[in-house]
Order: sequence, then C-alpha cells, then structure tokens
Amino acid sequence: MAYVRAVRQLLPDPAEVDPYQAHASASRPAPPDRPWVMLNVIASVDGSTVVDGVSGPLGTPADKLVFSALRASADVILAGSATVTAENYRPPRTSAVQQELRTARGQRHKPRIAVVSGSLRFSLDAELFSEPAERPIVVTTTDADPRRLAAVRERADVVTAGNAGTVDLRRALAELRAEGSLVLCEGGSALNGYLVGDDLVDEVNLSVAAVLAGGNGPRLAAGGADVLHGLSLAHLWESDGMLMARYVTDR
Ligand SMILES: NC(=O)c1ccc[n+]([C@@H]2O[C@H](COP(=O)([O-])OP(=O)(O)OC[C@H]3O[C@@H](n4cnc5c(N)ncnc54)[C@H](OP(=O)(O)O)[C@@H]3O)[C@@H](O)[C@H]2O)c1
Repeated sequence: MAYVRAVRQLLPDPAEVDPYQAHASASRPAPPDRPWVMLNVIASVDGSTVVDGVSGPLGTPADKLVFSALRASADVILAGSATVTAENYRPPRTSAVQQELRTARGQRHKPRIAVVSGSLRFSLDAELFSEPAERPIVVTTTDADPRRLAAVRERADVVTAGNAGTVDLRRALAELRAEGSLVLCEGGSALNGYLVGDDLVDEVNLSVAAVLAGGNGPRLAAGGADVLHGLSLAHLWESDGMLMARYVTDR
C-alpha cells in the first residue's frame, strides 16, 4: 500500500487516529432481527461515485486505509452484482495480524463477500468464485432461474428472500445474521438505494475526495423510496484533503 499521511481526527476531538483501531472499537449494536448495516462510499465534491465506470480514480491511500479498516471489522461485505463486476471483486485479502485480531474478537478469520443479484447473470468465471476455501454468498430471490441457481450453488452459498426479481433485503439480512452481527455494504448506488428506502442503514462512512468529477456518475444511493432519515456525525477525519465522515442513523 502507498505511503499514508497521518489521518487526523477533526471531530469530535482533534487527534491522530488509527483507522483500524477506531473502527474495530466503534459501538455498533445490532438490532434484534438483523445485523448492523454500514455503508462505505467515496464521492467527489460534486457528488459522483464513479469516474470512467469505477470508483478507483477517486481514492487516496488514506481512503484505502479506511476501506481496509472497515472490511477488517465486518463479518459480511455486501455488494450489488454491478459493483462486483465493475470493480472485479476477489476473495477478501485480510492480513495475518487482522486475521488474528478478528479471531480474538470471536469473528471468522476473514469477512465473507455476499453478492446481491436478482437475475444471476454475473460471470461465475470471475476470480471471486475461484477459491473453494473462500466461497462467497449469493443473495437472490426465491423464484430465481433454477438453472442459473444450480450453477451458482456449485461456487457459492445461497440466501434467498423476496421474489419477482427483487430481493427482500430485510429478510436476507436476517438470514445473514448467521454470519455475524456486522454487515458492510460497499454499494453501489442501486443496492444502497434499496437499503436506504427500506430503512436498513445504521451507519454511513462517506469519503469526500477533493476533486470535481463532472459526468453523470451515480450518487451514494438512488432508486429507492423517498425518505428523510436523520444522521448524527460520529466522527470527521482528514488526510491530504480527503474528508472521511462517519454518520450514525438517528433511531
Ligand atoms: N464510489 C463508490 O464508493 C462506489 C462503491 C460501489 C460501486 N461504485 C460504482 O457504482 C457502479 C455500480 O453501481 P450500480 O448502482 O450501477 O449497481 P449495484 O448497486 O452495484 O448493483 C446493481 C445490481 O445489484 C442487484 N441488486 C441490487 N439490489 C437488489 C435487490 N434489492 N434485488 C435484486 N437485485 C438487486 C441487481 O443485480 P442483477 O442485475 O444481477 O439482478 C442490480 O442490477 C459501478 O460503476 C461501481 O464502480 C462506486
């Protein structure tokens, strides 16, 4: 990983922070019926989450550190099929140190990746599905195409909830509770939109990159129902012009 300048906490109290330690020790009380759900998104100052089809150009070493720290604390990493394809998802890499810390906290040594798809039209030849010891989870509907579903089951564990092409995310999350109490949703905008619309987001980690991206890139969440959920700012960090905020949903 490239050299990371110090990450400074601006709020609540000015301090230098270790993102791994801070995220591992954050309070995230899961509701009784599902895991705690946190989003992690990077956006430009003008609100775009994508440049040339991917999020990578927006990132900096500090943001990547926060991305890794959130992954290191999660039990499940949830992503929509378009993100998994566009960002070429692979089995998660977790350092030996983080694996040890996870095991000491009673977590699986690595988080599991869960792909949300109604159509199951993503490629099973992708690297994500190539490691039998790191089987991902596929979250789909109860009436998914049986032939596609049979092929998926050879490479992944399957959770089904909802029908007619739309996964019932509340029920799916209840099933994912068996994997642990903390789900990190990495997007994209469509999946985040469903979660926001169904009031299933407990925390938002938003990195604002000091760039203007222009274009028509999607925003953090889009497509779900109109809502107005209040958020409280839990912390604000800065490194090299990148602002990294953690918001917790007011309940
Ligand atoms: N800046 C960032 O932080 C960030 C983060 C993530 C992604 N991105 C970018 O965002 C883009 C992808 O985002 P996106 O909004 O187009 O797509 P997305 O949310 O990643 O994936 C959408 C797909 O996920 C499945 N899906 C999601 N919710 C579903 C539900 N409730 N029921 C059934 N299926 C569901 C569907 O798959 P099927 O079509 O297979 O049925 C749907 O077409 C990429 O360019 C990626 O690089 C940016």
